[in-house]
Formats: sequence, C-alpha cells, structure tokens
Amino acid sequence: MSSNCAAGGSTSVRVAWCAALAAGCTTAAAGPDPAKVATHGAAPFAVQLERLAKLQHGIDLIAPPAGVDPVVWQAMIPKDNQPTAARIELGRKLYFDARLSADGTVACATCHDVTRGFADRRPVSEGIGDKLGRRSAPTTLNAALLTSQFWDGRAATLEAQAILPIVNPIEMGHKTGREATAAIASDPAYTAMFKAAYGRAPNYDDIGRSIAAFERTLMFLDAPLDRYLRGDTNAISESARRGWVLFNGKGRCVTCHPMNRANPIGSDGRFHNVGVSARHQKFGELARQAVSALAKSDTAEAIDRLALETDASELGRFLVTRNRADLGGFRTPTLRNAGITAPYMHDGTMPTLWDVMDHYNKGGEANLFLDGGIESLALTEPEISDLVALMFTLTDDRFATENTAELARQRAAAAVRRPFRDDALSTRKKLQFE
Ligand code: HEC
Ligand code: HEC
Repeated sequence: MSSNCAAGGSTSVRVAWCAALAAGCTTAAAGPDPAKVATHGAAPFAVQLERLAKLQHGIDLIAPPAGVDPVVWQAMIPKDNQPTAARIELGRKLYFDARLSADGTVACATCHDVTRGFADRRPVSEGIGDKLGRRSAPTTLNAALLTSQFWDGRAATLEAQAILPIVNPIEMGHKTGREATAAIASDPAYTAMFKAAYGRAPNYDDIGRSIAAFERTLMFLDAPLDRYLRGDTNAISESARRGWVLFNGKGRCVTCHPMNRANPIGSDGRFHNVGVSARHQKFGELARQAVSALAKSDTAEAIDRLALETDASELGRFLVTRNRADLGGFRTPTLRNAGITAPYMHDGTMPTLWDVMDHYNKGGEANLFLDGGIESLALTEPEISDLVALMFTLTDDRFATENTAELARQRAAAAVRRPFRDDALSTRKKLQFE
C-alpha cells in the first residue's frame, strides 16, 4: 500500500497515507514529502540539491576528477557504466527520490545527506519506520575510490552497493527490486530518462548503475593538506604539520591509512581488527550463529541483513569470508572529510576525533584477533591535539565553514568528556590483559 501512495504524490493521496502513518505526519499537513520537509533528521532534498549545485558549480562531472590519476580512475569504472550526462542526471534524481523506500520517507540522501557531510551525523542510521541499524553511515564523498564498499567490503562496486539498501527491510524496505522499480517506473519522466541513459526501460540493475554514475561525481579531494604537500608550507597550521610527522611516524597511522598521490583517500582497502567491536566480546558464539544462519541462505541480501540488523554485525569481515582471521575486521575507512562526518567507527561509538586518538593511543581494545599494527603509542596530550589538527586539514575547502564549526564543537565536547582515554594503558604502566 504505502509504496503506491508514495508513488502517487498527489496531495490527497499523501494526506490519506499520512493519517495511516501517524508517526510521519507531524511535520506538515501536505504529508511528509522529504523533498520539502525534513524526514529522519535529514535536510529537505530541495535544500540539499541547491547546496549540491553550488558544490559542483563549474566542475566537469564526466572528466576524471582533479587529484586522481586518470588511468587509475578509468580502471575503477565498470565498462558497461561509463559516465554520461544522462546517466549522472538519472542517478542524481534517484539518489534524492524517497519513492525508492517502501514508505516514501527515505532516500539515499536521507542517510547520505549533502548538508551533513554526505552521512547522517548519527551513531547508527535510521531507516523506514524509524528503525535503527547496527552500523554508522559512512560518507558517500569519494566512495568511488574505495576498493570495496561497506565497512566489511561485502559489495565490490558502487553499482553492487546501491541496490542493497533499497531492499533492506530496515533501510528502504522494498520487498524486491521489482517492487522498487515499479514504484518509480509509473513516473513518465523516468521512462524517458532510463531510455536516454541506458537505452532500456527502467530496471533494477540500471537503478544501481545510474546511482553509481552519480556517486562518481562526488569527488572532494581539494583540502589544505594537499596544498601543503604540494609545497605551500603555510596551508596548514604548525600543529597540523607536527601531526603529519606523527601520522607517518610515532602514530603509525600511515601503515593502514596511506595518504599520497597514488592513494589520496587514506585507506589501504584492507580489513583490520583495531579493537572497536571487541568491547562486546562474544566473537566465538556470534560466529557460530552467523555461520549456521548463512548455511540456510548465503545471498548478498542475507549477509546485508545480518550486518545491519543483528549482533553478528560486530563480526565484520568474517561475515563475508567466514575466515577466522577476519573476526572483528573492518575495512580501513577514508580519512578524507572525516572532520565533518562524526561520529566515528563502524558502530558510530566515538563522538569526536579526540576519542579516536585516545582509542589508538591505548592500543585499541584487547582481543584475540587484534591487528598486529595496533599497540600502545604513548602519545602526549599535545601530540593528540596535533593529530586531531591534521585530521581537520583533510576536509575539502568547499566544506571549510562546516569544518571550522565541527572542530570547535568537537573540541568543546572533548574538553568535557574523554571516555576512551587511558593514560596508564597508553604509557604501558598497565598492560591490556591486566
Ligand atoms: C537508512 C540509512 C541509509 C540509507 C537509506 C542508505 N544508506 Fe548507504 N549506508 C548506510 C550505512 C549504515 C552504511 C554502512 C553499512 C555497512 O557497512 O554495513 C552505508 C554504506 C554505504 C556506502 C559504502 C561506503 C563505504 O565507505 O564503504 C555507500 C557507497 C552507500 N551507503 C551509498 C548509498 C546509496 C547509493 C543509497 C541509496 C540507494 C544508500 N546508501 C542508502 C546507511 C544508509
Ligand atoms: C592497523 C590498521 C590501522 C592503523 C594503524 C590505524 N588505523 Fe585508523 N582505522 C582503521 C580501521 C580498520 C578503522 C575502522 C575500524 C572500525 O570501525 O572498527 C579505522 C578508523 C579510523 C578513523 C575513523 C574514521 C571514520 O570515518 O569513522 C579515523 C579518524 C582513523 N582511523 C584515524 C587513524 C589515525 C590518526 C591513526 C594513527 C594514530 C590510525 N587511524 C591508525 C585502521 C587503522
């Protein structure tokens, strides 16, 4: 029922639908049209689209993005989905279209919101019916350069990633790809747009393809650190310059977060247990349950549901490979624009970048599968500030205002609360297993 109502779009249909879904109706008499009013805390899509147009003003969206080797870029784009204006335009429309959700309140842009660093600034995401998942929404900014998608890498490409949330029951909630396609295909504008983009009628795989083509335009790699590395010494503060030395030395960050011209996003694309999920230690039991659940159904959708709806989420990469060495392992995230995408880590449990540094400083959280690269760092308080200052130089200049505001907000929050700080552990006055 609800998908028809949402697809209808006329005021009367929306009002009737609203009455049935009282929870979503507090915002406006005309019904919760996410294009005009906020749903699930996201900015109205009209506001987001206006901001996006400004962010991308004057940029050639089809050419390889600035800051990326064009050969590398080309190699990462599937042959059957080369970018065209028609594909990007279709993908943009779909990214902001809540009809792709069963109750018409959730689009990609709800959880990957232009005004919130293309994420949702929540610990874990909220989908249809206000249901909460188990994982934190990563940004879609620069996701095109990741070698796998999702915290556990369960999708190989943006194309494969985009079609999963639409049919996940607690995200967008359509029962099947066919149902989702029907919800948009009734709109004649789409028929023409799919024809122009792929020469065919609307279908589920092309929904994923076009959204991926759009996401490849979300490249934001023009940050103060880039200018510093090109030789402009004053592009970043003295504190951030010390942070860069720590990042590559005493802090050991660069071993998993390589940051150079060949790899500008700060992810090695590999999976590491840095001890975040170890706080809920039940790996053995959880692994047994997950393996038996997957013995019954081992599809991409089944893994998606385990990752987003159950305690098995904490198993990380293990859910995909069933390899014991991957227990609690998550793909190294990009560090680009991290300043504007709090909270942090796969479960969104760290509100500030100070918390992230405190976590690394004490050597993560002890568990049998902790990555060998994680150990106590003995960073001093000024060194922690330097690393945090460095993190904030990775935000693209187009978000400079938000970045400055976020730095102030996080600094104030960290002044009051540092729940992950443990000086005894970070200086080895106490050891993890004591
Ligand atoms: C209800 C909120 C929600 C909606 C709706 C949603 N996402 Fe996400 N997205 C998430 C969460 C949470 C994750 C991380 C899940 C995981 O790793 O298991 C994620 C992961 C991703 C990633 C992987 C990025 C990375 O760093 O690995 C991409 C890309 C992405 N989403 C794009 C989309 C697109 C495109 C849509 C629309 C078709 C969409 N999302 C809809 C919450 C959402
Ligand atoms: C052994 C590999 C490894 C090392 C060393 C490492 N990281 Fe990470 N980093 C990761 C992984 C994996 C995650 C995600 C972990 C999770 O969510 O469970 C992560 C997450 C982060 C995040 C959160 C990003 C987000 O969007 O949530 C930041 C910031 C970060 N690391 C910065 C650093 C800094 C600074 C250092 C050095 C002090 C460092 N990392 C050292 C692998 C590593």
